[in-house]
Amino acid sequence: MSKKIQKILKKDHFSKQDIVDLLKTDEKERQLIYNKANQVKEKCVGLKTYYRGLVEFSNKCYKDCYYCGIRAGNKVVARYDISDERILESVKFAYDNKYASVVFQSGERDDAKFIERITNLLKKAKEITNNKIGITISLGEQSLETYKKWFDAGAHRYLLRIETTNKELYYKIHPENKKHIFEKRLAALDDLKKVGYQTGTGVMIGLPFQTYEDMADDLLFFKKFDVDMIGMGPYIEHKDTPLFVHKEILLPLKERFNLSMKMIAILRIMMKDINIAAATALQAIDSIGREKALKVGANIIMPNITPTINRENYQLYENKPCIDEGADDCTSCLEARIVIAGDDLGYNEWGDSLHFAKRKQKEGVV
Ligand code: 5AD
Ligand code: FES
Repeated sequence: MSKKIQKILKKDHFSKQDIVDLLKTDEKERQLIYNKANQVKEKCVGLKTYYRGLVEFSNKCYKDCYYCGIRAGNKVVARYDISDERILESVKFAYDNKYASVVFQSGERDDAKFIERITNLLKKAKEITNNKIGITISLGEQSLETYKKWFDAGAHRYLLRIETTNKELYYKIHPENKKHIFEKRLAALDDLKKVGYQTGTGVMIGLPFQTYEDMADDLLFFKKFDVDMIGMGPYIEHKDTPLFVHKEILLPLKERFNLSMKMIAILRIMMKDINIAAATALQAIDSIGREKALKVGANIIMPNITPTINRENYQLYENKPCIDEGADDCTSCLEARIVIAGDDLGYNEWGDSLHFAKRKQKEGVV
């Protein structure tokens, strides 16, 4: 069997069946994939990890994804919205600690007040950092016009996970209504590219009803869509969500973790120069899960710099790590972890997706 895996790993392009075979590898065989992925990482993006200070500034959300702990239908969670002043303090913290980039994430809203607020916030974040801070936003599906507005205000990367590329599965994990339309999400990804963002997407791994074939299709979609960045991690059930009823049919957490590691490693081999995040959800299963991901192809870590008092209410899934730590604690803790994992730290560097630069060159825009 490991001969077969070795043979697949020598190929320039993986077929769907190749990916399925790679995903089904046992403990010994998967090491071959991990080794290859780490070699590709070293050669194509360097053994370096970049920070993105993550500010989860509000858990108010008007959508109802069946898996998510902050969905509108969850009446148990206390809702919060951090003031712009506090958010900007976090930005200053990131800047002063040489993080070079921040990510603003919140529940999804598309009202005019929210759109205006974000526009101003982006401008201010740039202003207080002498235009230096790199800004990624992860604020869901918005109109092309809004995407443009936020881009012009200073955001240059956008994360919007497709969650799964299997349309049927999409509607098993989202209600089928106007707020959750698979095609609209795909169109939003196109819009982001059109506007000029470094465009990131991703999926959850180990969802109920998800097959190996679905996961292989996810990776092939990333390649075909020519993404610049990926964030993907294990699905972790949350007791206050509708999807929790399927907990009996889920793969064991450890298996979901291993599959996530394999997905990252295989994707690094398939898309050598993109940015791949070591998702926080990995750490909810294994205390050094993110560092393990850095060893198999991931090159981005998003330390949580949300003010500590708000962290416990941004639990998209249960057992979320670091919810009682402050940003200072996270910085020193992470630095040690990354060095142990064998990577250098890209302090004071944006660490933009190399793939994006090449994509733009190809499109004739330098
Ligand atoms: N388990 C794992 N990831 C989740 N997300 C939301 N809920 C869960 C969960 N229960 C992920 C989604 C979303 C991102 C912000 O968090 O993929 O896009
Ligand atoms: Fe908020 Fe999915 S529940 S975007």
